[in-house]
Parts: sequence; C-alpha cells; structure tokens
Amino acid sequence: MLGKLHGEREVRLRRVLPGIEVAALAPTLARIDALKRVRRAIILAHNYQTPDIFHGVADLTGDSLALAREAARTDADVIVLCGVHFMAETAKLLNPGKTVLLPDLGAGCSLASSITAQDVRRLRAAHPGLPVVAYVNTSAEVKAEADVCCTSANAVAVVESLGAPEVIFVPDRYLGRHVASRTPVRLVLWEGSCEVHERFTAREVDALRETHAGIRVLAHPECPPDVLEAADHVGSTADMVRYLRAEMPRQAVLLTECSMSDNVAAELPQVELVRPCNLCPHMKTITLEKVERSLLEMEHRIEIPEPVASRARRAVERMLDVR
Ligand code: 13P
Ligand code: SF4
Repeated sequence: MLGKLHGEREVRLRRVLPGIEVAALAPTLARIDALKRVRRAIILAHNYQTPDIFHGVADLTGDSLALAREAARTDADVIVLCGVHFMAETAKLLNPGKTVLLPDLGAGCSLASSITAQDVRRLRAAHPGLPVVAYVNTSAEVKAEADVCCTSANAVAVVESLGAPEVIFVPDRYLGRHVASRTPVRLVLWEGSCEVHERFTAREVDALRETHAGIRVLAHPECPPDVLEAADHVGSTADMVRYLRAEMPRQAVLLTECSMSDNVAAELPQVELVRPCNLCPHMKTITLEKVERSLLEMEHRIEIPEPVASRARRAVERMLDVR
C-alpha cells in the first residue's frame, strides 16, 4: 500500500500498472514526496509523461498552456518540469527568480529544433510588417524574435488577437494549416513538423473505424491535414481530456503520444482507449529515477541569458493575456 493519504494515486496507478509494479514504486514515490517538502518544490508534468510520474508524483498536470499558467502562479521555490526543454524554459521565463529543473537536458522537441532565431529574422525581412506568432514548442531564442506565443489550445485566439490581416506563424506547418482553416487571417507558414504526430495517417483512421464501429477519433492539431479531416474532434491534449470527460464515449482513440492514453485510462476507466499511438522519444527521456536525482542534486537548472529572456518573456506573457 502507498498509504492512506495517497489512496487516489494508488487507485489510478493500479488501473494502468500491474499491482506488483505499483508496490515496487512505493519507496521511490515516498522519497520524492519527502524531497519535494525539503526543497519546497512542485512537480509540473505534461500529459505525455508516464503514469508513474503523471499520477505518482506530479502536483499539477496538463497541456502546454496549463503548465505555463500554473508555472506563472506557483509560490514554490523550485519547479521540476517533467516534460521537454521548451516547457522548462517557459516555466523559467515566467519565474526568473525561481529554480527550474529539467530532469534530463536531452529532452528536446523536433518542432523546437526545426527553426532558429535567425530563420525568424529572415522571415520578418521577407515579409516586412507582419507580426510573428511562435508556437510555444520553440527555443527561448525563437520566442525572443516573436511578437506573441501560442499553444495548440489558444492558437486561433492568439492569431486573431493581433488584429492583422496576415501573420507569420512558426514553426508547425500542420498546426498552422489547421489554424488557417479556422480564421480569416492569412498565415505565412514555416515547414516544421512534429516527428511523433506526422506519422499518423488517414488510412489508419479508416482501418480503425472499420474494426471499431462507433469509435470516437480525437486528433492533435500537429497531425497531417487528412488525419484531422478524418477525426471527430481536433484539440490540444487538455482539450481531448475535456472532450472525453464530457462525452464519455464507449471507445475512443487519441491520435497523439502514447502515455496520454495511459493517463486518461487511469482517470476514466469507463472509456476504452484503443491504440495506435506514437511515442515521443524526448518526453520518454524523463523517468522517475531522474526526477528523484533532479531533486537530490538540484539539476539540471534552466538558465536563460538576457536580453533573450526579457524579450521571450514578453511574448509568453502576451499569450497568457489572450483569453
Ligand atoms: P499540448 O499543448 O496539446 O499539450 O501539446 C504539446 C505537445 O508537445 C504536443 O506534441
Ligand atoms: Fe515535440 Fe512532438 Fe514530442 Fe510534442 S510530441 S514534444 S511536439 S516531438
């Protein structure tokens, strides 16, 4: 048993992990709990983190937007970001005086590495006067070149908040096309993509519908356009959870990263989640052992030099002001 205090956590973990594994996790979870108290730390975990982290030790969970909002709100001294590098950078931008730790510095993102600050400067030079919207899946240097950031949850609202007829939108071309289909604002796109979501195909969706009558298909907007067209619902990871909580379909498939389905299955056992899914190798570099080491050794600290930090912070804060 993990103890009375953690009853709900144990119930959720047992829904997705064998009992013997849950029992074996107990000492590590207890050590991490103790370390969090000593360090006055909170753990923020993205929806793609494995259930041992997501349901076992995270204080707050969610999509990129929710994690940014929570990071802006916390009064903890230390934030351990269980997610990828750009998420930890966003947390640091919003908390320049706090210690922000990423348990593995190698946790990158194919979208973030698809574009540099210089690429954005060139785009601006090629399209004079157009404002730049940068998806949060970018480095702080790229954010510093943008007017405003967005996530997949608020991209349309952010683009429209600029009041411009045309904007530069970087770096995800699929999210960009999806946004363009929902707003009269014209978008100049960059050719970046997510190595995880671009692997889903519309044929996969057709095959699923043939074998699972009535299945609800939810897709992340980083998937290719024909996949989005074949889906019943398109949304950010948090939006998928909201949809499932409200609709409670008998069967659903989440066209996104694999741990998302595990984490939702632990919360909503009534919904049968059919796979396929694709693993994000970057998200998977974060493990429970590394989370513990991170709190023990206070590593790896995220630092963002000035003036990049101030300029990037402005773009993130401007996003948080968009409702
Ligand atoms: P969300 O903001 O929807 O959680 O997406 C983040 C991400 O990295 C998707 O691949
Ligand atoms: Fe980046 Fe794609 Fe992984 Fe999300 S799933 S962190 S966009 S590589």
